[in-house]
Amino acid sequence: MPLPICYLNGDFQPLASARVSPLDRAFLFGDAVYEVIPVYGGRPFRLRQHLDRLNRSLTEIRMTAPRTHPEWEAICLALIERNGGGDQYLYIQVSRGAATDRNHAWPESLAPTLFAYTSSLEPVARILLEQGVAAVTTADTRWARRDIKSTALLANVLLKKLAVDAGAYETIMLENGFLTEGSSTTVHVVSGASIHTPANSHAILPGTTREVVIEIAAQLRIACTHGPVSEAELRGADEIWLAFSTRGILPVTRLDGAPVAGGRPGPLFARLHAEFLSTIAGLAGTPAL
Ligand SMILES: Cc1ncc(COP(=O)(O)O)c(C=O)c1O
Repeated sequence: MPLPICYLNGDFQPLASARVSPLDRAFLFGDAVYEVIPVYGGRPFRLRQHLDRLNRSLTEIRMTAPRTHPEWEAICLALIERNGGGDQYLYIQVSRGAATDRNHAWPESLAPTLFAYTSSLEPVARILLEQGVAAVTTADTRWARRDIKSTALLANVLLKKLAVDAGAYETIMLENGFLTEGSSTTVHVVSGASIHTPANSHAILPGTTREVVIEIAAQLRIACTHGPVSEAELRGADEIWLAFSTRGILPVTRLDGAPVAGGRPGPLFARLHAEFLSTIAGLAGTPAL
């Protein structure tokens, strides 16, 4: 559920009456980048990593960062506070701004549109953790710069709908016989005692939760490789996990209608997820950046 106060171009104001121009390039072209940041106990999780990725996306689309990290931190904390603190998720969007007319090539003088709002973050339903979720696979139909977190998400939108229409939770994508990622998740595959996940490249988003999985695996001394994951490895996996900011880590227990290994969340998931929960439980009151 969206919370009532948003941030738009320097002002905190009611989300219900916030307005941007229909000539904004985010509306006309999807010419904008964004971040989604989980907030636990009033404290944004991995804010620095999200802001680093925001700036990376901005650089890749030839925009300069409109705010410093401390400025964003102040905006985020004020927005979280004005919306009552606790567990939320925070959405930040920077668009190239509104020009006087529609033209693919942008004029250099545009003022970016800065928008942020928060939603309540409900706890992950226990049934998802205990039984896992279903996923379907399909070809990756997106563009060649999936590392940019762009609001131009039409392919992802259609891919997610494919899962929902099939009664599944996520669509996992394959390209030339190899795993890329989910429509809004990174994907981790367990074979034996080790975790495998595709390396960061232009083919996938550099996931912040993916980094958390990698860090926790290192703490727990679980081997974790970053490299090509074949379709055969995905289909023969002992465990499959999805990782993403709003839900953390979820086990996939059905893939294209077939059970993943025994069809139950696996033992490595249980270990990693317990550590993930204790990481986020300790956040309240710690510095955000
Ligand atoms: C395409 C895609 N991949 C991966 C992710 C996971 O990234 P993060 O863990 O930073 O939320 C997302 C998040 O929305 C996404 O949209």
